[in-house]
Amino acid sequence: MSEKKLWGGRFSEGTDEFVEEFTESISFDKELALYDIKGSIAHAKMLGKQGIIPEKDAEKIIEGLKEIEKEIKEGKFQWKKELEDVHMNIEKALIEKIGDVGGKLHTGRSRNDQVITAFRLYLKTETQNIINLIEELKKALLEKAEETVDIVMPAYTHLQRAQPIRLAHYFLAYLEMYNRDQERFKDNLGRIDQLPLGSGALAGVDFPIDREFVAKELGFSFVMRNSLDATASRDSIIEFLSNASICMANLSRQSEDLIIWNSTEFSFVELPDKLTTGSSIMPQKKNPDVLELIRGKVGRVYGDLVALLTIVKGLPMAYNRDLQEDKEPVFDAVKTLKGSIIGMTKIIEGLKPIKENMEKAAGGFALATDLANYLVRKGMPFRQAHHVVGSIVGYLTKETKENRELESITLEELKKFSDLFDEDALEILSPYAVADARNSFGGTAKNQILEQIEYWKKRINV
Ligand code: ARG
Repeated sequence: MSEKKLWGGRFSEGTDEFVEEFTESISFDKELALYDIKGSIAHAKMLGKQGIIPEKDAEKIIEGLKEIEKEIKEGKFQWKKELEDVHMNIEKALIEKIGDVGGKLHTGRSRNDQVITAFRLYLKTETQNIINLIEELKKALLEKAEETVDIVMPAYTHLQRAQPIRLAHYFLAYLEMYNRDQERFKDNLGRIDQLPLGSGALAGVDFPIDREFVAKELGFSFVMRNSLDATASRDSIIEFLSNASICMANLSRQSEDLIIWNSTEFSFVELPDKLTTGSSIMPQKKNPDVLELIRGKVGRVYGDLVALLTIVKGLPMAYNRDLQEDKEPVFDAVKTLKGSIIGMTKIIEGLKPIKENMEKAAGGFALATDLANYLVRKGMPFRQAHHVVGSIVGYLTKETKENRELESITLEELKKFSDLFDEDALEILSPYAVADARNSFGGTAKNQILEQIEYWKKRINV
């Protein structure tokens, strides 16, 4: 209750301490400090240029703001809870530093357009950071795909072995998914990159302001057309959280794959020591904690999205204090998503596939469909071919009592089941041949994959 409030004119008693504590946002919105100062400098410049305040006052204000910026960067600035939020902390410090003239900064502006301007500047920067991080992840996937064109593995549906694919095909699938995540962020950036400042509290400003000038100064591409919308809407920010949620879902899904592949039972991949952790009591363990935490942190980001959706759903036009609650979910989602993308990038870079194990799992009866299709190509109806190959499987596993793999069959044995079988039937009994038979566009044949790699090489700065 110690500080005199900037808005305290009409009040005859100080604010209740509980209310100060309950309504403050400085404990988290100081994250916006440098963006707030940037917005204020542009605003002051515009006020001076338009003659709304004397040029020399504008200069003094800008100088003062720059000093405050330096103090914040050096960690010397004293944040005060009694001053509620980042905007009032900075403005009060300015007035203390340069005197009453500092009070002219808030001419033609309200905290309602001020706060969302700083927030949009912040989110523009962070969205660009996220887009850049996804680019690094895409690069890591592309490089891993190039390394793994000649490794074959079983692909799964229902987590049952389905058909052999080249491992590169898997990495390229995630590259596609993260690429769409990145596109969504780029698309949203156009809607974040809009200037609300100059909307006042809600209805516009009764001074001859120049919003185009402020937009240019701050690097916004667009000036928001409607002052109610500019101060009250948060849909573009919800869209960011929605994009973050989808991206987290993709990261989580890939984490799950790699956790399974890293298990002793699968032993398809080895994770680098430096990205795993040990157990305090079980010396044999090497835990995929980074992947588990990416999977686990998805909940926070979904929660952030639902929080903001819920905050806006019953808000009457225009600004309501509820909107102060928009910041923490976004800060949390930004931090969580960035960490998760970096974590996945490191994992992909350091991941070592265990070729023998993948290859072994890709062979055997996973090749049965292709043997049936061989007969179909020779003119046998598919139903009949299915039956013939079924008998071969039964023969190898039961009749021979040796539990033989499909690859062990000889031409003589095949001929007993159908005289359509020739020498070339044995050639298709390899997971590589089976994979390469899927030569349709988007399929897993080697030349399809090499084409996909070429496609991405032209689009990713490696
Ligand atoms: N800290 C507030 C927020 O985050 C600033 C806007 C306050 N405006 C007001 N009319 N009380 O939304």
